[in-house]
Order: sequence, then C-alpha cells, then structure tokens
Amino acid sequence: MKHVIGVDIGTSAVKVVLMNQLGELCQEITKPYPLIQEKSGYSEQNPEDWFTQTTMAIKELVSGISESASIEGISFSGQMHGLVLLDEERQVLRNAILWNDTRTTEQCKQIYELVGKDKLLEITKNPALEGFTLPKLLWVKQYEPDIFQKAATFLLPKDYVSFRMTGHIYSEYSDAAGTLLLDIRKKEWSQEICDAVGIDISLCPPLIESHECAGAITKEFAEATGLSEGVKVFAGGADNACGALGSNILQEGKTLCSIGTSGVVLSYEDSNSLDFEGKVHYFNHAQQNAYYTMGVTLSAGHSLQWFKNTFAGDEDFDSLLAGVENVPVGANGLLFTPYLAGERTPHADSVIRASFIGMDSSHKRIDFIRSVIEGITFSLNESIEIFRENGKKIDTVVSIGGGAKNKAWLQIQADIFNATIVKLSSEQGPAVGAAMIAAYGCKWFESLEECAEVFCSSGTQYQPIPENVEKYKQLFPIYKQVYQQTKELNAALQSFRKR
Ligand code: XUL
Repeated sequence: MKHVIGVDIGTSAVKVVLMNQLGELCQEITKPYPLIQEKSGYSEQNPEDWFTQTTMAIKELVSGISESASIEGISFSGQMHGLVLLDEERQVLRNAILWNDTRTTEQCKQIYELVGKDKLLEITKNPALEGFTLPKLLWVKQYEPDIFQKAATFLLPKDYVSFRMTGHIYSEYSDAAGTLLLDIRKKEWSQEICDAVGIDISLCPPLIESHECAGAITKEFAEATGLSEGVKVFAGGADNACGALGSNILQEGKTLCSIGTSGVVLSYEDSNSLDFEGKVHYFNHAQQNAYYTMGVTLSAGHSLQWFKNTFAGDEDFDSLLAGVENVPVGANGLLFTPYLAGERTPHADSVIRASFIGMDSSHKRIDFIRSVIEGITFSLNESIEIFRENGKKIDTVVSIGGGAKNKAWLQIQADIFNATIVKLSSEQGPAVGAAMIAAYGCKWFESLEECAEVFCSSGTQYQPIPENVEKYKQLFPIYKQVYQQTKELNAALQSFRKR
C-alpha cells in the first residue's frame, strides 16, 4: 500500500501524519518547539527548530514502518503570516516573527498611508493587521536596517521547511494571501503595493499551486530520515486552508469552526469578487482557483488554557469542564469577552483586553468556565453574523479542534451559531489536509473533492435547541456591547500600565 506524509508546522509543535491510499491514519508524531517572547507583544521562533523537529519526527515515523519505500510524497500545512528572512547564501538572518506578534501597529498605519486603505482592500482583499507579513517586513526595514539590507528573499514558515528539504525556494497562493503583498485575484505579487511601501518585489518567492511539486527531497534529507531519495515534496497550504481541506470544506455553503490557540470560522467561497470591506479575511484556498473567507478570534482555546493554568493548575481539561452542561445558558449572569491578546474579528484592536462582567458572590468556578466557553463562542459568532449579513447561508458548521472535544461545547456552538454542528469521526486537523495535498499531487485522485471522499468522514451531529437559541439571541447583543463599553477603559489602563 502506498503512503503520503502530511507535515503541520504549528505554533507550539510540528505534527507529522502518515496516511495510506484508503485515507487511513497509520502513524502520528508530534514534536514541540519553543516560542521566544523577549518583550510583551513579541512572538518569535527559530526556523532551525522547525526543521530539526520535523526531521526528527519524520525519522521516527519512518523507523516505525516496514516499507519506507511506500512513501511517495510529502506536503505541508503551516502557521500563517510568519516572516522568515534569508540572505543571498540562503542563510536565516533573524528569528521568524510570528502571526501572533503584535509589535507592528505603527507599520500597519504606514501601509494605510502609503498604499491607501481602499487600494489595499482592492488588491489584497484584507486590511492591514499586525499579524500579517508585510508589516513585519516593514518593521525589520525600519528597526533592523542592517539585517534588512542583507535580505534576499522572504519565506513563510512551512515554505522554509520545504526549502530545507528540497533546496528549492517557493511559496504558494494560500499562504501568500496572508502576506498583504499578493493580488489575490490575479494570483501574483503586487508590484503596486511593493512600490508604494518600498519593498523590492524580488524579495518575494516564486509562486506555485498547493499541489504542485516543489522538488524532490535532497540526498541529505533522505539520509537524515531514512526516506527514499526521490520522494516528492508538494507546496502545501496555510493551516486554515488545510484544516478546511481535511474537513471537506470544498464547496460553496460549507463552513468550518476550528478552535485551537486561536479560533477561526471559515466559509468556502468560489468567487473572488465579493466585498466584505475587510471585515473578515479573504484568502486563496489550497484548492486551485477557490477562496475562503474567515474570521479570527485571537484567544479562543488560549482563553480556556489561560483560565486552567491560572486557576486550576495541573487539572486536565476533562475535569475542568466536568459539569459545565449543568450550568444554565448564560452562566448564571456571567459574561466573558476573550480579548486576552487583543482581537482580530470583528474588532481589529490590539489594545482591547478581556473582561468578566456580572460577577457576584454566588458564582462558582464552573460558572466562570461556562462563561469562558460561551464568550469564545460568541466571539466566533460575530464572524458568522458578518457572513450571514453578507448573504451567506450558514446552516451547517463542521467543528474541529479543542472546541470539538467536549459535548457540552459542541451543543453550545449549535445553540449560539443556530446551526447544525458536525463533528468529524476521526479528526487530525490541518495535517490531514497536508496529506491530502500530497495524495492529490501524487495523482492518487483526479481531484481534491475525490480525495476528500476517501480521507474525510463526518460523524455525530448536534442540533440547535430552540429554547437555548432564543436565550442566546437575547444575550448576544449584550455580549457585543461589552467591547464598546470597555474599549476606552482598556486604552486608559494600557497607557497607565506603560507609565
Ligand atoms: C490566521 C492566523 C492563525 C494562524 C495560526 O490568519 O493568524 O490562524 O494561521 O496558525
């Protein structure tokens, strides 16, 4: 039986999966790497760590199977937006600056001044946000000119690992879409934006389709891992695009809710000319000539993780969430907004911070936990509301990630989104999407849709309970007001903190 490998370069770890032609998961290995946070708002990683840990993971995976020659292809899913800078000798110039680094507010303003907000939206379909790649490039240009001067090319995280495996420099459209340098309709780097902001377009890597071959693995990589020489490497896709592939989000009308550190609501889009005025992201899909729109809650799973770390120490999530289904809708009057690290959708605001509103002495820890879960879900519902206001029909949502691991949370999603929630029977996240790209690249299937028929299987469904839907409809406008009412308070608190 033939196999492919899907590699997911995540924010906390790399996950490597081995899948066969029947779409079965044969092996899975995860290797962590550290986050480097030198200052508040900074978030970096050493690209060498991604490569070393990926090599170790693949080596371990290969040593665990009898027929390593059966592995035909590898592809990637990657954390989006991270900036890797290489010099002419293709050496890394500094740590990668990641998607969740917020040092670039000043550069976002510069982009609007130099390009113009309307022009930026017209070309890239997205607003200037701290997390995206172009503001990071401009930050290095402004604050580390010596490094910037030496830069010959930039790469996104997974593309760097692909380069180290093959020796070839490429990116692909789904990740390029998150740089703010791609004309997403023409599928080419935008000369107009590069000229306006003073970036030489030759810094941008050549672009290929997600399923196109970026090259074969090098002799050294074959030796380091035990893979056969000649294994093909396919370009891959952004983690959200791959999460969508792995959940069969390949047709108009299909929507995904993925709750990891951040949370996204993503909706398939076959047109590239809708106008969401930059309220949600609009990116190229990993499927050729398809798109998706997406809203992001920056601290989704992170909010629950933070609560657990801060108030429940070593407890595991199952014990933390035990009994949450018995707390009534609305957490006995306690409301949480998940703005622990600012927010993206619908408020692109790096200053806003989280709140608990409505506390009284009757509240127990479990009320807080229910309100954290409800707050994260309300935040994601703001994206769903934008999609619906723009005419998209959202009646079924595939739920993956941490939010799909708990039955009570799945029901809360059904009730807040007022949609049927589908939980996949076997879920491996974006790594499966990466394996699917490799399988399609190896021509095991005629199309990604055909591949999804074999690789994706849906499982349990959760239906909205009308009585709960009604209560959440009353609570949602109150939740939305918390942002407006705490915006100025948070700005004042932040300048107090800086004093
Ligand atoms: C998307 C985004 C995150 C990262 C996480 O715009 O910033 O979802 O891709 O890996």
